[in-house]
Amino acid sequence: MKDAAPQTIYLKDYTPFGWQVEDVYLTFRLAPNATRVIARIHFAPNPDAPTQDFFLHGNALTLIRASIDGQPVTPELTDAGLTCAVPSGPFLWEAEVEIDPASNTALEGLYMSGGMYCTQCEAEGFRKITYYPDRPDVMATFTVRIESDMPVMLSNGNPRTAGDGFAEWHDPWRKPAYLFALVAGDLRNHPDSFTTRSGTKVDLNIWVRPGDEGKCAFGMQALKASMKWDEDVYGREYDLDVFNIVAVDDFNMGAMENKGLNIFNSSCVLASPETSTDANFERIEAIIAHEYFHNWTGNRITCRDWFQLCLKEGLTVYRDSQFTSDMRGPEVKRISDVIDLRARQFPEDQGPLSHPVRPESFQEINNFYTATVYEKGAEVIGMLKRLVGDEAYAAALDLYFDRHDGDAATIEDWLKVFEDVTGRDLSQFKRWYSQSGTPHLSVTEDWSDGTFTLHFEQHTPPTPGQDEKAPQVLPIAVGLLGPNGNEVQNTTILEMTEGKQSFEFTGLSARPVASILRGFSAPVVLRRESSAEERAFLLAHDSDPFCRWEASEALARACLIAMITEGATPDTAWLDGLARLLRDDTLDPAYRALMLGLPTEADLARSLHEAGVTPDPDAIFDAVETLRLFMAERWADLLPKLAEEARVSAPFDPGAAQAGQRALGNRVLSLQSRIDGGAAAQAQFAAADNMTMQLSALASLNRAGTAEDALKAFHDQWQDDRLVMDKWFGLQIAAAAPAEAVARASALTRHEKFDWKNPNRFRAVFGALIGNHAGFHQADGAGYALLADWLITLDDKNPQTTARMCSAFQTWKRYDAGRQEKMRAALERIAAKPNLSGDTNEMVSRILS
Ligand code: ARG
Ligand code: ZN
Repeated sequence: MKDAAPQTIYLKDYTPFGWQVEDVYLTFRLAPNATRVIARIHFAPNPDAPTQDFFLHGNALTLIRASIDGQPVTPELTDAGLTCAVPSGPFLWEAEVEIDPASNTALEGLYMSGGMYCTQCEAEGFRKITYYPDRPDVMATFTVRIESDMPVMLSNGNPRTAGDGFAEWHDPWRKPAYLFALVAGDLRNHPDSFTTRSGTKVDLNIWVRPGDEGKCAFGMQALKASMKWDEDVYGREYDLDVFNIVAVDDFNMGAMENKGLNIFNSSCVLASPETSTDANFERIEAIIAHEYFHNWTGNRITCRDWFQLCLKEGLTVYRDSQFTSDMRGPEVKRISDVIDLRARQFPEDQGPLSHPVRPESFQEINNFYTATVYEKGAEVIGMLKRLVGDEAYAAALDLYFDRHDGDAATIEDWLKVFEDVTGRDLSQFKRWYSQSGTPHLSVTEDWSDGTFTLHFEQHTPPTPGQDEKAPQVLPIAVGLLGPNGNEVQNTTILEMTEGKQSFEFTGLSARPVASILRGFSAPVVLRRESSAEERAFLLAHDSDPFCRWEASEALARACLIAMITEGATPDTAWLDGLARLLRDDTLDPAYRALMLGLPTEADLARSLHEAGVTPDPDAIFDAVETLRLFMAERWADLLPKLAEEARVSAPFDPGAAQAGQRALGNRVLSLQSRIDGGAAAQAQFAAADNMTMQLSALASLNRAGTAEDALKAFHDQWQDDRLVMDKWFGLQIAAAAPAEAVARASALTRHEKFDWKNPNRFRAVFGALIGNHAGFHQADGAGYALLADWLITLDDKNPQTTARMCSAFQTWKRYDAGRQEKMRAALERIAAKPNLSGDTNEMVSRILS
């Protein structure tokens, strides 16, 4: 139990463990409430360690017996593990412990989900399985024997022997304990195989609960595509005889890259046209790739300590985004990533939870699996690649894999390969890893005598623990357009290293229009005093798809802010410019679908706050609704044409082409349903033969308040499908009118299918409530109170998911005094809960500080 005073761990205190683990032999005698784990571990002194202190982590273990070299010992048990007097040379440690997987609702360590045994060990779950030096720099080979009457028993590596009631696995690759995995259950497999480019045949399996066999084909295809892509693009081959994926219904996050045995939240691997949306397909493809890519960036080269988490996560996110770009098109992927970064990483980086990509301290590492470590960590790698160029990037990665294969590495090691390959000094660039906060980049321009000058100034506002910021290296991709819209300067990277810096372009015959931060070349807030005409010009002519989208985004944002703060009417010049682009049928439908998007309400709140205006959630909601209705009316002729273009007549295919058409069609539908009383949505709902079309229609109906029958029909059709029912729960709240969202969420928590211990179901309800900006921020504080009640309930069972969802309150200081007071009260109520978990305690105190 974690009642003891919270302990803070610091990067600067790193010291190696006193012992090396040569090999580990584990025997599991599985039983739901009394599983026995027998560990035999060979330890040898670590010559690089300052002391030979012997401490093994352990949590919620009942020690049955322990011995050293066959002699029984009585270790001293502490609340975090054990210590023991040990020989000065190599020895064999044996321990038998008893654990209770059926009662493990935290879903960390060995637990049960729907009758099957499974594990989640990253970051520090292995210590709930046996006593062990549970840190990523201790690596060993594992042999595992599983004894149970379950028909399928899996662990890492290659299968060795199996017989009646047992199976043995051996993983020849040294690995840290966080990559350990075990699964046992009544599972069905979807088998396939892949032959590596050097000719090794690898058996592939996706294991699922009976009944889910029909939802594996897409995941398998994605796995094979990932294996091929990593060979082609990074030269990385798979290194075992088998690769297993298992789908688990109760899982705290998306998926886990355990060596040779990836374990997935079933929502991130099971797919079928009838039950999965296009967005689900794309996400499943990306997560399968992500976990597979970890085999090299994470497993073969792991992290020295958890402060280096971005070493594997930032790089692996970067790699999976490259993969998605290659599979589905770079323009749309880049814009989607920027939308996501602004929605999830910017609020984190600009609030009380702000932390560097490589944090310097933590209490609970689970709280640092964040958008900053993952997504900003990936942005940092993108910048590095932009600065050194594609060839040097490839050479640096080859050197990284060569030099560090088998290592537990650091960010210093990572940057050093780039320095060695390019001769660059990356010490200033390294600030991206140590400085938190989003840099603000402002730009002004001058024009005289054929010379165009851009003056940049960077400034990063203070963040917790960091009052002073030093200038960072910013790769600013810029292009220039001439008066007729032609490009007079192709994309060039300006490398900004100082607080203020100017860049000149000479020999121009007329004043150009600058296209700045092409491809979103650095994760900054760009502040540009730009006229609406200039933005409209970029919207019409920019050859950079990101900046073209961004021009419309900026106009939409300006329009909405003027509507909110000055009661202005919608900006028809922008809408007409946008309509011209929407009519251009040479443009990818997926791209036009993105163009039809508006900034989210939460993101508008952020912009208002940045501009010194206290955001009013209801006013923001009204402005967005007014604008959407205005668009629907103004484009009454255009929308049916777009709908026609978006119609898919071929059989369903989850690839980018059809998905883009459906995305465009459903954006159009959502606008149309504002003026046709829901007729088109009703028709689409009735005719839909895939989940994308069915669910979008339902959302439009729900928003129009005419979904009662459709919701019932949807429920009756899908009540036995857990993943689709998550959608049914979420949609009713996400697409509810603000005044109804909290009441709906509250009513749904009383629904018989609200299984709150299942993280997917809990998130379906509360993630949707948090995402309904004006609903969650209902002025009387009912949304805050409901969420707090449920977080308090969940904390006893599942601290990790509770802590993560506390971030809903991270923006509390942006709002008016009344809402602030109510959010503070909710947070204080959570903080005051008896036996609050360390995870939640850390989150709440950071948010309140
Ligand atoms: N390494 C896993 C993934 O990215 C995620 C593990 C999350 N662990 C956690 N304790 N939150 O791919
Ligand atoms: Zn990952």
